[in-house]
Amino acid sequence: MSPFQWLLCGMKRKATLLISFIVLTIAGLSSCYKMLPQMPDSTNTLCGPVDLSSAQSVLFSQGNDQFFAIRTAATGLGPYFVSTGCGECHSSDNRGHPFTILTRFGQSDTTGNKFMAEGGPQLQNANLPGYAPQQIPSGATSSKMIAPVTAGVGFLEAVPDSEILAMAAANLTNPDGVRGHPNYNIIPSYVTPSANAVPRGDGKYICRFGRKASVYDLLQQVATAYNHDMGITSSYMPFDPYNYLDQMAPSSAGTPEVDNTTLNSVVFYCRCLQTPNQRDTGNATVKQGGQVFTSIGCATCHQPTLTTGYSPIDALSYQTFSPYTDLLVHDMGPGLDDGYTEGNAKTSEWRTAPLWGLGLAPGVQGGNIYLLHDGRAHSIEEAIMMHGGEAAVSAGRFNNLSASDRSALITFLKSL
Ligand code: HEC
Ligand code: HEC
Repeated sequence: MSPFQWLLCGMKRKATLLISFIVLTIAGLSSCYKMLPQMPDSTNTLCGPVDLSSAQSVLFSQGNDQFFAIRTAATGLGPYFVSTGCGECHSSDNRGHPFTILTRFGQSDTTGNKFMAEGGPQLQNANLPGYAPQQIPSGATSSKMIAPVTAGVGFLEAVPDSEILAMAAANLTNPDGVRGHPNYNIIPSYVTPSANAVPRGDGKYICRFGRKASVYDLLQQVATAYNHDMGITSSYMPFDPYNYLDQMAPSSAGTPEVDNTTLNSVVFYCRCLQTPNQRDTGNATVKQGGQVFTSIGCATCHQPTLTTGYSPIDALSYQTFSPYTDLLVHDMGPGLDDGYTEGNAKTSEWRTAPLWGLGLAPGVQGGNIYLLHDGRAHSIEEAIMMHGGEAAVSAGRFNNLSASDRSALITFLKSL
C-alpha cells in the first residue's frame, strides 16, 4: 500500500489516536496510555481495495470514510453502545485489540436467546449520560469476543454453500475425528439469500460470519454492528438496543440514524477489501512449515484455498484465495467452551478462525498478539496448545514436532 493509500485508510482514527497520544504524553500520563492500543503500524494495515472500476472506487472510498467515522449522540450514537465507530474495533481491518472486546449473553443451546427482553444478545457497556449502564441478567451465560479480520470478507461471502457442504462431508471420514458442520441459523427478513444458497428446508440457512458463524452475509453483519455495537438504527434494524434496568419502553422506530445509502457503502467497503496475502512464499523454511501444517492436520480445518462463485464485482468472481478457514464450526473442547452460543453451534463450537494476516497481527495489536475468539492466547504456540476437542489430535502432533519442524511451522504461520 502506498503512503497515500495508507493515509486515506482510517484517517480520522489515526488523527484521533495521534491527538490522544500527544495529549497523554504531554500530560505525563504515559503509564495510563499503555492500556490503550497503539496506533497500527502503517505497513501492517489491510485496508486497501481489490481492483475496482472508477465508479466502484468512489463507493469504496465513501464506505471507507463511514467505516472510520466517529459517531456521537448528535449523529445517532446510543443511548447504549459499545464503541463509537467500526474503525475503533477494526482499525487495521486485521485482528482487533482486547481493549475493544465485546460481550454477548443469553443463549446456551440451539433454542434461541432467552434474554432478548433483558437486553440480549449483546451487552452495551457504554451509555449516554442519563441512562443506566446495562448489566448481564442473572442466570445468563456470556462470552467475550475481540474483532476478527475484516480484510477479505467479500471473498468469504462469495464462497458457494456447495463448497462449504463439501468440506463438511469430507470431515465425516476424517481419521483425526474432525467433524465440522455449517452453522444453520434463521436469517432476518431484510436479508436476501444468495442464488447459490442451499437451505436446509426448515427456514434456516448456512451462515458464515462472526466467531460462531451465525451471521448470513455482510449486510446483516454491518446492520447488526451499527445497531448492537453503536446503538444506531437503520431501516433494517429500526429499534435501538434496550436496557431493562432503565424501566423504559423500548424506543419507537423513528427516522433511521444511518440511511441505506450510507450503510450499503460500508457493506461495499467491507466486501471489496483485499485479501491479506502471504509473504516470503519462496523462502525454504516457509515452504517446509507449510508442509508440516498440512501433514499434522491443521489444513483440515484451516483450508489453504477456497474458490468464490459468481460475483457482480469482477475482482471477487471465481477467484481462488487463501483464507485458512473452512467456514465450519468445530467443537474445540471444554477449555474453549464459555457456555454461550448462536444458531445451531454448541457452546464449545467456533468457526475455524481464518489465519490470513496472522504475521501482521503484532504490528496492529500494539506489539503483542492476542489470538482466539477472546484474545486469550498471547502467542501462536499458545493458541495451538489451547486447541482441544476435534483439534486435539492435530495439536498433540504439534506438541511432538522436532524443534526444526516446529520453528518452520511458526515461520510459515507468520508469513500468512
Ligand atoms: C465494539 C467493537 C466493534 C465495533 C464497533 C464493530 N465491530 Fe465488527 N466485529 C467485532 C467483533 C467482536 C466481531 C465478531 C462478532 C461475532 O462473533 O459475532 C465483529 C465482526 C465483524 C465482521 C465479520 C468478520 C468475520 O469474518 O466474521 C465484519 C465484516 C464487521 N465486524 C464489520 C463491522 C462494521 C462495518 C462495523 C461498523 C458498522 C463494525 N464491524 C463495528 C467488533 C466490532
Ligand atoms: C478441528 C479444527 C481445527 C484444527 C485441526 C486446527 N484448528 Fe486452529 N482453530 C480452529 C478454530 C475453530 C479456531 C478458533 C477458536 C477460537 O476462536 O476460540 C482456531 C484458531 C487458530 C489460531 C488462532 C487464530 C486467530 O486469529 O485467533 C491459530 C494460530 C490456529 N488455529 C492454528 C492452528 C494450527 C497451527 C493447527 C495445527 C496444529 C490448527 N490450528 C488446527 C480449528 C482448528
